[in-house]
Amino acid sequence: MNRFSKLALSALLLISIGAAWAQDIERGKYLMEGVVACGNCHFARGDKGQPLFEKGLSGGMLFEEPPFKA
Ligand code: HEC
Repeated sequence: MNRFSKLALSALLLISIGAAWAQDIERGKYLMEGVVACGNCHFARGDKGQPLFEKGLSGGMLFEEPPFKA
């Protein structure tokens, strides 16, 4: 294998790894923002309870039950 083939092969390999990685991130985003439903409780909310979309899953709601407060 000559020098050019090795370089072309390496570039091809890096491009496919990058594409697979981007797909994994998209898949993870889809799962985290929907399927796993963490946002049901962990959505950041304003003082009127409105969701603050720009804050993502950084918030949470208060559970105030007689045996505990979380
Ligand atoms: C039914 C509501 C609910 C859902 C759905 C939920 N959580 Fe939570 N989560 C809580 C509550 C309440 C706490 C705080 C518990 C406490 O104070 O002990 C918490 C705490 C956490 C913490 C902090 C733990 C710590 O030790 O401080 C993490 C991280 C977390 N949740 C991640 C997630 C992820 C990831 C998902 C989705 C897979 C998720 N949660 C779904 C209610 C929920």
